Amino acid sequence: MSSEITVFGSINMDLVVYSAKEPQKGETVIGSSFETFQGGKGANQAVAISRLGVPVSFVGKVGNDVFANELLDALKKEAVDISAIQRSSEESGTAFITVFEETSQNQIIVILGANALVNSDQVTEETLISSKILIAQLETPSGETEKLFKRSKKFDCYRILNTAPVHNLSNSLMDESDLLIMNETELATLSGDSPSGQFTSSVLIKSLDKIALTSDQSVIVTLGSQGVFVYENKIGTLIPGLDVVPVDTTGSGDCFVGALAAQYLAHGNLVDAAYFANKAAALSVTKKGASASMPFLEEVVNFI
Ligand code: RIB
Repeated sequence: MSSEITVFGSINMDLVVYSAKEPQKGETVIGSSFETFQGGKGANQAVAISRLGVPVSFVGKVGNDVFANELLDALKKEAVDISAIQRSSEESGTAFITVFEETSQNQIIVILGANALVNSDQVTEETLISSKILIAQLETPSGETEKLFKRSKKFDCYRILNTAPVHNLSNSLMDESDLLIMNETELATLSGDSPSGQFTSSVLIKSLDKIALTSDQSVIVTLGSQGVFVYENKIGTLIPGLDVVPVDTTGSGDCFVGALAAQYLAHGNLVDAAYFANKAAALSVTKKGASASMPFLEEVVNFI
């Protein structure tokens, strides 16, 4: 493997129900359709990067089940380097997703399966030598991510931690990250503030300052349709959301992470990369599915 970006993370089969109506607790409603998609935060991020024309390696685990072959084939078709993916005795990860058509918002329950057995040793020294950017999320064991981030330090990798879904996140793993990317809910959890829905620079900075980070660490908060906030060197930049007709928001955060990494690799400017990734993520919500909705470079470049 000799890609400049390596994604260490999860891969799932997404089992998606589209429904006009959101059921109340204990209520049964009739949905509109059922579809399966290749998903998993890590794999989605890798596909986003690859569709933007940047070679990428994905490191993760699948099972020995029928989903595994489909998932591997899907990544191969997307030109993602899958040579470090291993099979495990656990079943492939699955995600049970409901998308409500009126709002295009979703609810997701993930069964980790093989993702829970992903190991930092799957990433070879050769991979770390070639990787300029390393990305991880929290659907794989955070202890393994921490070991990997520590190992990669001496190879000068830029380490991006997407704190999704926020659980089992230690301060020591945060300390090992150069850039943290979180959404507004994750920011609320990590800062201990209740989500205010108010996305002004001063409100966001107040919450961000409660997360003990050093001055050389940066944070990006994705705010859904409200845009993105970049906090770098104690300077905040609020990037407004873009007007699109949303169909399915699943994977838009992953699209943002992947597109940001691809653009940061090319130009090394975090704010510019966030503007680009904001466009990519806006485009992704106009299509169904997670990986399936990632835009290609031409679409992002031509998006006004
Ligand atoms: O971020 C969206 C992803 O979360 C889905 O593809 C699902 O698999 C879960 O990992």
